[in-house]
Amino acid sequence: MTASPSGVLTESVSVSEAAEMARRAREQVVGRVSGHPDRRDTDEYFRLAALNDTLLPERVRDALDRLRDGAADAVVVHGLPADGPAVPVLGWTWLGMVTRRLGHEYGYRAEKDGDLVHDVRPRPEGAATQSNASSAVDLSLHTEVAFHDIRPDFVVLYGVRSPEPRPATRLVRIADAIRECRPETVRELREQRFRIAAPESFSQARIVDDVAPIGGSYDWPTIRWHSSIVAENTHRRAAVTDFLESAESVAHQVRLGPGSLVAFSNSRCLHGRDSFAARYDARDRWLLRTYVLRDVTRLMSRYGLEPDSAGIRTLAEAVAS
Ligand SMILES: [Fe+2]
Repeated sequence: MTASPSGVLTESVSVSEAAEMARRAREQVVGRVSGHPDRRDTDEYFRLAALNDTLLPERVRDALDRLRDGAADAVVVHGLPADGPAVPVLGWTWLGMVTRRLGHEYGYRAEKDGDLVHDVRPRPEGAATQSNASSAVDLSLHTEVAFHDIRPDFVVLYGVRSPEPRPATRLVRIADAIRECRPETVRELREQRFRIAAPESFSQARIVDDVAPIGGSYDWPTIRWHSSIVAENTHRRAAVTDFLESAESVAHQVRLGPGSLVAFSNSRCLHGRDSFAARYDARDRWLLRTYVLRDVTRLMSRYGLEPDSAGIRTLAEAVAS
């Protein structure tokens, strides 16, 4: 394991490991699933993937466990066996293994119509927006679903296709960003004085007030952030500017090509993406994404749902209130 002091763990799967992983994944997971992967009914595929997650090298599972228990903030894996572009069944397998090792996938009715596996692709109408459909502009640093009171504990991104050169996904640990900030910036951002709106990919317009972007303790800070963040006075606006400049200065660059995956804590990392040239054809950039809750029973308690297989979809329906 390459453990940088930054808390971002990077692993690579060797070519010989990958060949054996692909063979066994097709036999033990892909070949036993009925039909194609279904973005809104992931349970059969992900359950089988999870039952067979020992196909992942032990060091990869160990890194994911460190992310799950808070000993690391992000895990990057390169060299996973990639497969055909039409239906990335091996990609679904790795995504399912990683997602279920960290928790449980869930969705929002207002985001991609409740899909539990998100196709992240550039779209012409979103090219210049601050959303996952963008391409022509840098996607500025943010956390997922920052405006909502139920936010993913972890986010997993798997690369199906990428243009060359591969655009960088920028990853920033909040602890690193804070170290670079002026003390008054951190003091301001700990105040519940900021407004955050839903991103343009959400079909419902939502704005929340009285958000403290930085939370948690001194040693274990957390972050909620989106480009829509609004501050009402010059001190707070200066804090927003200083924070973003500081965060960008300590960004890790992860280039997701076919067979690469990143999983990160959504409360301890910000992420963004560099601009790239979209093609809007069958060779365009394409990621699979899941939102992960470590304890999905939070949703059951809140919405009174049962954990039956159809309920997984129902949770997605219910969360967007
Ligand atoms: Fe994002």
